[in-house]
Amino acid sequence: MKLLLTGGMGYIGSHVAVTMAKSGHEVILFDNLVNSSSDTIKKLNKILDKDVYFYKGDLNNPNDIKSIFEKFKIDAVFHFAGYKSVKESVINPIEYYSNNMIGTINLINEMYKKNVKLLVFSSSATVYGDPKYLPIDEKHPTIPKNPYGRIKLQIEDMLDDIYSSDNNWRIACLRYFNPVGSHDSGLIGDNPTGLANNLMPIITKVASKKLKKLSVFGNDYPTVDGTGVRDYIHVMDLAEGHKMSFNYLLKNKGCFKFNLGTGKGYSVLDLLKSFIKMNHCDVPYDFTFRREGDVSECYADPNKAFEFLGWRSLRGLDEMSESAWKFLHHNEKD
Ligand code: NAD
Ligand code: UFG
Repeated sequence: MKLLLTGGMGYIGSHVAVTMAKSGHEVILFDNLVNSSSDTIKKLNKILDKDVYFYKGDLNNPNDIKSIFEKFKIDAVFHFAGYKSVKESVINPIEYYSNNMIGTINLINEMYKKNVKLLVFSSSATVYGDPKYLPIDEKHPTIPKNPYGRIKLQIEDMLDDIYSSDNNWRIACLRYFNPVGSHDSGLIGDNPTGLANNLMPIITKVASKKLKKLSVFGNDYPTVDGTGVRDYIHVMDLAEGHKMSFNYLLKNKGCFKFNLGTGKGYSVLDLLKSFIKMNHCDVPYDFTFRREGDVSECYADPNKAFEFLGWRSLRGLDEMSESAWKFLHHNEKD
């Protein structure tokens, strides 16, 4: 089938492109490269040993979306495109609402016009807000704490409304926990264009001496060692979760919500120790104040995804650490 991947040049989209192309689908990437590089296409071509089609376009320009739907007879859409920094969304909500919300509406409008009614949407664990209990299942209250999470939830609500108005839609909202790691080749990975905000890209930059040290945000949380606990999930497991969701949608109509996490929580120090052990490198760090808006502990109950999709994560923390470093090394050589 012909699959359109908005934001397909980005971190998660590029890994899903590999998984879906390897499953025999034609992937068409649509991206404005605001947070990715055109080099990714060469790397995807190398991994897949064939040319992948890339269209440089912006979801905020309805003509760009129209042209891609006119050029190809798209069967389904994986929607990754958007800004992803929680911090920036607090500082500049208008930009986030414009890009993430309006971009999504433009996309869905075009899908509706072309009668394309299968959508896999990148949602986020941020829709839950402060955990009321752990692990977090899909019935957990959704009270996001920042504009980024609120927009994800509003999009989910909009998708529910769209399905209610027309039961022919097949929609999966995938609530990712903390994706880390990279493809086995080390060719693609998490490569933000500006300053890195997430833990793993910062650790790799400190290990490669591009940054002096890691600031661990708080060591006084009520967790195993005082540092924040998260559910880190290998990006290739996440990509597999997209494939299983897509297969599920081929057989089922509805608007579904699934957690994609491992069900295991690891602290910042756990991740750091795993990274140092696996990659034999030095990562200087110190403890600083808690980061505003952070929760102390957050990990998924992934059982619904297993029950409905037959999906569960397979890769452990050490594999995530090893592959994240492999990607950075590969990039340095390029
Ligand atoms: P990313 O920034 O690497 O990829 C997003 C891609 O979208 C980028 O290549 C960017 O250039 C593109 N883009 C942004 N705005 C666009 C627009 N208006 N038109 C066309 N392209 C546009 O991010 P990612 O980590 O791959 O995340 C993908 C999706 O998953 C996002 O929606 C993000 O909110 C969500 N998500 C990510 C995480 C995470 O930790 N990485 C966690 C939960 C949810
Ligand atoms: N952390 C540090 N130092 C840093 C960066 C992070 O100690 O320099 C800590 C944080 O305090 C937190 C943990 O590392 O305890 C993970 O932080 P990240 O910034 O990597 O990830 P978040 O859990 O804050 O958020 C991420 C994505 C969101 C996504 C969410 C889903 O940034 O987009 O996971 O759970 F929605």
